[in-house]
Amino acid sequence: MTRLALQYGAVNLSQGFPDFSAPEEIKRAAQEAIARDVNQYAITWGAKSLRNAIAEKFHTWQGLSIDPEREITVCCGSTEAAMSTMLALINPGDEVVIFEPFYENYGPDAILSGATPRFVKLRPPDWIFDPDELAAAFGPATKAIILNTPNNPTGKVFDRAELETIRDLCLRHNAFAITDEIYEHMLYDGARHISLATLDGMRDRTITINALSKTYSVTGWRVGWAIAAPEITAAIRKVHDFLTVGAAAPLQEAGAIALHLPAGYYETLAREYLARRDRMLGILAAAGFRCFRPRGAYYIMTDISSFGFPDDVAFAKYLVKEIGVAAVPGSSFYEDPADGRTHLRFTFCKQEKTFQAAAERLSKLKIGPHSTRG
Ligand SMILES: Cc1ncc(COP(=O)(O)O)c(C=O)c1O
Repeated sequence: MTRLALQYGAVNLSQGFPDFSAPEEIKRAAQEAIARDVNQYAITWGAKSLRNAIAEKFHTWQGLSIDPEREITVCCGSTEAAMSTMLALINPGDEVVIFEPFYENYGPDAILSGATPRFVKLRPPDWIFDPDELAAAFGPATKAIILNTPNNPTGKVFDRAELETIRDLCLRHNAFAITDEIYEHMLYDGARHISLATLDGMRDRTITINALSKTYSVTGWRVGWAIAAPEITAAIRKVHDFLTVGAAAPLQEAGAIALHLPAGYYETLAREYLARRDRMLGILAAAGFRCFRPRGAYYIMTDISSFGFPDDVAFAKYLVKEIGVAAVPGSSFYEDPADGRTHLRFTFCKQEKTFQAAAERLSKLKIGPHSTRG
């Protein structure tokens, strides 16, 4: 959709990258690290300064003490952290439980690592799962569950009771949990982020994945990490070493500065994202979309049934070509495209002038039967 947005000069509300500046102090830290000649390979599993900062921040926010020497692997973004984790854990024939709709990478991650995915539906409007369905997805072949909270694409934030249900199943089936917590600081309406690793019994069977990408608005830096018990970390580090050797050394130094930003940074981030969420909800509602109000992350899933298009892809193409706004078809987030045919996802990690342009363009959208188009 980003490619089509460029082709048609559309306002790009598809891919989740901010179109505003990263914080000055961390950009300066990166420039200074290069000037200081931090330009050669870092330690393959991560610069000591960054691993120490990750351990300190995890302790401050989640109350868990982790050993930066034995329990952290710094990777090229959370994308590589997830892939290295899957390759380290999965053996042929293993199954992985994945909530659906899911962030697009989890399907390919499962395929590349040789796992068979078992999908469990999150159902709108609140994107809750049926505990019986989840229990039925676990079995003797289950190696892990992948959990993304706050969630892309739904904006769901899993609460403690839901996490306990997941925990109980992991314990019963001796399964790992791979948690993607990249949107941990984007929370609305009183939602609280709880790391699954903090629940009794989960510390040593959870691999907690995170990154600089979203929290510090530096998706292009490609710095992320996996936190896991020492023996799992040892395996992740081996895979990581042969996949990429290491993440960019100067950007890891800047990452250590980023993770030491004061609490006020995260308060401002959450407040600004709340304002962006409300702005985007207003724009979409005015244009006739039914919105599922997100409690976390920076996406809005919508229901597009009332526009009368044959499916989500036809509507997304119409929107990008004729209206000039790019969004992601809901089918991208489901194994069976039919399950996402009434959904379209918009991102709101954008600046006011982008919202204004989107609002103007979307105001031309008409609700009604468009079934002959697309
Ligand atoms: C849930 C989720 N995980 C991971 C990523 C990718 O993160 P990174 O840039 O750290 O590889 C994204 C990016 O959109 C995401 O939405």
